[in-house]
Amino acid sequence: MDRRQFFTTAIGAGLTSFFSSSCLKSSLNDNKALLSSSLVNNNNLLTQDKNTSLKAAAHKVKKFYGTAISEADIQQDKDYAQLVASEASIAVTEGAFKWIVIEPLPGQFNFAPADQTINFCSANNLKLRGHTLVWHMAKPDWLSYPPSLSDVERHFTEIMGRYRHNQTLYSWDIINEVIADSPSDAEDQVYGLRKGVKPEYVRDVFQIAASIDNSKEFVINDYGCEDTGWKQDKFLNLVRYLKNSGAKLDAVGLQSHMWFSKNYGWNENGFRNFLKQLKSTGVRPIVTELDVIVDTPLPSTLAELDQMVADGYQKYLNACFAEGVETIITWGLSDKYSWLRHPDYLPKKLIDYKDFIRPLPYDTDLQPKPARNAILKAFRNVKS
Ligand code: G3I
Repeated sequence: MDRRQFFTTAIGAGLTSFFSSSCLKSSLNDNKALLSSSLVNNNNLLTQDKNTSLKAAAHKVKKFYGTAISEADIQQDKDYAQLVASEASIAVTEGAFKWIVIEPLPGQFNFAPADQTINFCSANNLKLRGHTLVWHMAKPDWLSYPPSLSDVERHFTEIMGRYRHNQTLYSWDIINEVIADSPSDAEDQVYGLRKGVKPEYVRDVFQIAASIDNSKEFVINDYGCEDTGWKQDKFLNLVRYLKNSGAKLDAVGLQSHMWFSKNYGWNENGFRNFLKQLKSTGVRPIVTELDVIVDTPLPSTLAELDQMVADGYQKYLNACFAEGVETIITWGLSDKYSWLRHPDYLPKKLIDYKDFIRPLPYDTDLQPKPARNAILKAFRNVKS
């Protein structure tokens, strides 16, 4: 099961226990009708503090706010580029370092997207995270999964070596989503690794990385660990194993593609406990890909929806900050470029409700939404 199926299946399964399908259908249809007659300019409903940037609010309490960026969006949309530069002090590459982009054919490297991103960041005083050196998705067909250690060494030497002395690029996602999507997809039941991946392999990948450049932050990144459950336990076991093996592992990236609903809760205590346990292993948890989806039942208006998204942000960030998380990165800044609105990734159950997919701080017209205010407020509420 891939991550899209995981989301849609998991969410779909949860929903079945609350609704009969006919009930759901009529509720969605009602929402659609109401939506078309009640589009609201959300900016009338809140006073945005446009004078304080998210990065400034974060900085004030010794924290960092960042966003994922794609070099294409930054090049083509100058207003968006300007917005990113004014709001964020960190960027992460949405695609530029993925194997399929940077080494599409064996030994043929395409550094242009990464270099363009680095140039944008250094010109605008942003620090950059490189995402991601190894991932089972976004890999070229010629590459095995997991890639052989000799391919890893060759690939890392080229890429990490090239940016070793770069002052803008400070952090690497060494490996992404190495935990299986479900127990039945796992190689083992201690670490829950994807088929073919052994814990020693993950350790060796980190060792290779450290042998090339140990001056940057090394991160292991994954999704679906923001509540409680199987995946969270496995991830924790793996982090403990890596730390006990002496791997240079500095931070754990929690993607945080969050879903909130009126019909089910979020286990905040379980999540906070997870953060505590991660910290006790000597790693820093960081939020790497935050966005918020409102699950059914959908509200009647976009204004209500935006408020629910904002409430989700606030709830999640308050929990993160209560446990000392310093870095918050959203997976994009504007709904205009959210992966969740891309036809390939639109959540199946919301396929007819694209208008309700408003997961980021700015809307598709680059106007701030309540989610932006919620992030600002969460930073301001941090006790320094
Ligand atoms: O660049 C090509 C373009 O030339 C082509 O015409 C077009 C046709 O659809 O595709 C373009 O590539 C797309 C690429 O994004 C750049 O826009 C790919 O199809 C598309 O699959 C790719 O999606 C990215 C996805 O990862 C897979 O790499 C999303 O933008 C990106 O947001 C998403 O990010 C992942 C994180 O890396 C890991 N965590 C989950 C997150 C969301 O899936």
